[in-house]
Amino acid sequence: MEHAKRFTGQVVLVTGAGHGIGRAVALRFGGEGARVVVNDVDAATAQEVAAEITAAGGEAMPAVADVASKTQVDAMFDALLARYGTIDVLVNNAGLITMARHFLEADEAWWDTVLGVNLKGAFLCSLRAAQVMARRRSGSIISMSSGGATRAHRGNVAYDASKGGIEAMTRAMALDLAPYGIRVNAVIPGLIRTYDISDADAAVRGQVVPMGRLGDPEDLAGPTVFLATEDARYITGATFAVDGGVLVQQRSTPVDTFPVSRFPVIEPESRR
Ligand SMILES: NC(=O)c1ccc[n+]([C@@H]2O[C@H](COP(=O)([O-])OP(=O)(O)OC[C@H]3O[C@@H](n4cnc5c(N)ncnc54)[C@H](O)[C@@H]3O)[C@@H](O)[C@H]2O)c1
Repeated sequence: MEHAKRFTGQVVLVTGAGHGIGRAVALRFGGEGARVVVNDVDAATAQEVAAEITAAGGEAMPAVADVASKTQVDAMFDALLARYGTIDVLVNNAGLITMARHFLEADEAWWDTVLGVNLKGAFLCSLRAAQVMARRRSGSIISMSSGGATRAHRGNVAYDASKGGIEAMTRAMALDLAPYGIRVNAVIPGLIRTYDISDADAAVRGQVVPMGRLGDPEDLAGPTVFLATEDARYITGATFAVDGGVLVQQRSTPVDTFPVSRFPVIEPESRR
């Protein structure tokens, strides 16, 4: 799909952009004319996504770094600034989503690993970006949160704590950075199909979503990019759920006392 070029010439860093939501966000920024810095800890996927953006006529550079490492984050920002001279948008997307473990089986290494990538990584990248943006009096920082920030997932004490941290950090950074023209917001993805599961499995899981289906990574691209546009110029400190209605729901359809099967049948109008 052809998109408006709202980011021509702007420099956008997306972390964890080699796969899933980060990839979709990076491709969308590329399609809108941004110079995209495609970070991932996995060199092969970072290069692939950067090449995809370039092949589509955009501008991109891969940036291999572990966001949990200050040394690697500093080297990535040094390379980014050497090549492009500035940064307009940072998307803190890198996250570990498959580290579930029961709390009684938790240990320090597990906590440090999850918090290191999901929360400290966002802190390290935001600090480097904000130092550049503050001098220019403009910039947008967007971080991927999760419904786990406010409603718990079983087996995910570390993950949910990291995302609660993301939302608290988003609000606190928004206050500290507003006088410098930097906006800071978070996106809350719902149940997003970033790994291969069967269609049958997806259909079952989709039943718990009010909109009736799992999300695709592309469902996150437009809303995330929107938060960095001029149209979002008065939005800061916000958390923006992109989840098909999951977070506002008390009981999911399969166990609801007033299930969707009791809803009135209304024939759709035929479209002219
Ligand atoms: N998929 C979902 O349903 C969902 C729901 C809520 C929130 N989220 C959040 O959205 C973000 C993206 O999730 P996803 O499903 O696309 O994940 P994903 O696993 O598909 O992609 C994450 C990417 O981050 C990279 N990465 C991991 N550790 C890194 C590190 N230390 N440094 C740099 N890159 C690293 C991975 O290599 C991978 O390419 C995460 O922050 C996740 O917590 C996802």
